[in-house]
Amino acid sequence: MGEKDSTAKQPHSEESESTPLDSKMNRRTFLKASTISAGVIGLGGIALSTGNSTTVVQNPTENLPATSNSDPFASQTVTLNINGKSYEVSVEPRDMLNNVLRDDLGLIGTKRPCNRGECGGCTVLIDGVAYMSCTYPAYRAAGHSITTVEGYNVPSSTESQILNALQLAWVQEDGGQCSGCQPGQIMSATALLLSNPNPTLDEIKAGMSGNLCRCGNYDGIIASIQLAAQNLQGGSA
Ligand code: FES
Ligand code: FES
Repeated sequence: MGEKDSTAKQPHSEESESTPLDSKMNRRTFLKASTISAGVIGLGGIALSTGNSTTVVQNPTENLPATSNSDPFASQTVTLNINGKSYEVSVEPRDMLNNVLRDDLGLIGTKRPCNRGECGGCTVLIDGVAYMSCTYPAYRAAGHSITTVEGYNVPSSTESQILNALQLAWVQEDGGQCSGCQPGQIMSATALLLSNPNPTLDEIKAGMSGNLCRCGNYDGIIASIQLAAQNLQGGSA
């Protein structure tokens, strides 16, 4: 691909021999540091949300808890605001929000179908924007408003109102079949109706494009979103 860098150090150059790696850090420390660096660099370029409002993390170390511990995997306590309630949780920098929601807090409405940012089934809202929770570091969510599919009855919350309307419409229009994808679909639809209360068919398709349904029940999903949008605007059910 690119031209060879003539200034690159050769494997047996004098300089490379004079600064052996093991004089600066042992193997265990090196592996830990490498893992953290790779994770942070990788997250910097990962698209974390679904649909047409894909958001790329610009500052992957935002909210990273300060630590006086030299262990880069040290746990820190952070407060997460989820569906209007505060939860104190202990997280490592590598813990993803999906794991904290499901495994630590028991909020299993949020699914984890692929666990690698490909299906949208784990979508939650953070400050009203759809994100895939399986690739969203939990510590980054501290100080922000998190909404999951369980958050349909939070008082005075527009997100909750939309989420409730969508869940009712989902039942009426058979939005789900096996329902493995449905929590993520409903959360992406919530984000869509938050930003666009009266979407056209094409806007619905674009807004939901990051959410896969292996049952292929896309017609039912679209009909559910259209019904919810109609009901939220005072239309007849
Ligand atoms: S489980 Fe997160 S995108 Fe599939
Ligand atoms: S309803 Fe089965 S995967 Fe979508």
